[in-house]
Amino acid sequence: MSDEITLTLPDDWHLHVRDGAALFSVVPDTARRFGRAIIMPNLRPPVTTVAEAEAYAGRIREAVPAGVAFEPLMTLYLTDKTRPEEIERAVASPRVHAVKYYPAGATTNSDAGVTDLARTFDTLAVMEDHGLPLLIHGEVTDPAVDVFDREAVFIDTVLIPLLQRFPRLRVVLEHITTRQAVEFLLATEDHIAATITPHHLLLNRNALFTGGIRPHHYCLPVLKREAHRQALLEAATSGNPKFFLGTDSAPHARAAKESACGCAGIYSAHAAIELYAEAFAEAGALARLEGFASRHGPAFYGLPHNTETITLRREPWTVPERLPFGEEELVPLRAGETVGWRLV
Ligand code: NCD
Ligand code: ZN
Repeated sequence: MSDEITLTLPDDWHLHVRDGAALFSVVPDTARRFGRAIIMPNLRPPVTTVAEAEAYAGRIREAVPAGVAFEPLMTLYLTDKTRPEEIERAVASPRVHAVKYYPAGATTNSDAGVTDLARTFDTLAVMEDHGLPLLIHGEVTDPAVDVFDREAVFIDTVLIPLLQRFPRLRVVLEHITTRQAVEFLLATEDHIAATITPHHLLLNRNALFTGGIRPHHYCLPVLKREAHRQALLEAATSGNPKFFLGTDSAPHARAAKESACGCAGIYSAHAAIELYAEAFAEAGALARLEGFASRHGPAFYGLPHNTETITLRREPWTVPERLPFGEEELVPLRAGETVGWRLV
């Protein structure tokens, strides 16, 4: 197997970078590895208008290291009140590329999310007409549903009916975690796609409990059983253009994770493409990494792929125990352990 691989510069199609001083800690990690990233709008308060998204893009650009070319691709946060006119403005903006749907209460900073999808139907109709993608956090929030089943139940009870109502709506089912999601994707048309994170390719739910409770492995949707990880790995390495890279790197301060009620989110931006290379190498599918990381996403979003390249070498390096995070610090994925691939 080759010890060096050169790829078209990849993009990250699902990323959280937060705001303020934190931007200067996390944006450089992504900008060094990726040409562009779809930026999640779940700030407090959320990014709900094109004007706010454009201002946020400006703040992100200030945190890109000098001499590095990196473009934030902005999204709007869908609420019960998002008007069709805001969608028209989004379509007209060169900065805004999608709208994010969080079921209210599903995850970090989602209290402003959609309480009843029916309230957004006029808005979704305009998105469908314009081909503006809807990015979906696909988990039901019903406390009666087992937390490990929330994605599969969402597909059956929310997503399938939604696509029956809006059959041309472009959809990305974000950070899929289950065999059921893979099977659903394989049965849909080309305008329905999915992102897959490095942690869901590399870890199963045992990683939450190895020798004790591991808050830094807690994210949403939560890690699943090994059989689901295998299904995701198979999908990601299949070459099918429906599946593409989205890290869902979601930094939280160490104290907010190491808590009696720790936040959901795993930080992976410091080693993102390297971790995907590990997962693809494990599956004997390094030759498929470029499609997944650099080609399928731009094709779905109707953008050109990048023209630059990056090179990765099989050479272990140790991840720091902690990284700065604004005034605080965070614990990155693999903290104190090795990653098998290095960016040359
Ligand atoms: C994300 C965050 O922290 O913003 N957390 C996570 O566990 N993935 C929110 C999200 O994408 O669900
Ligand atoms: Zn996310």
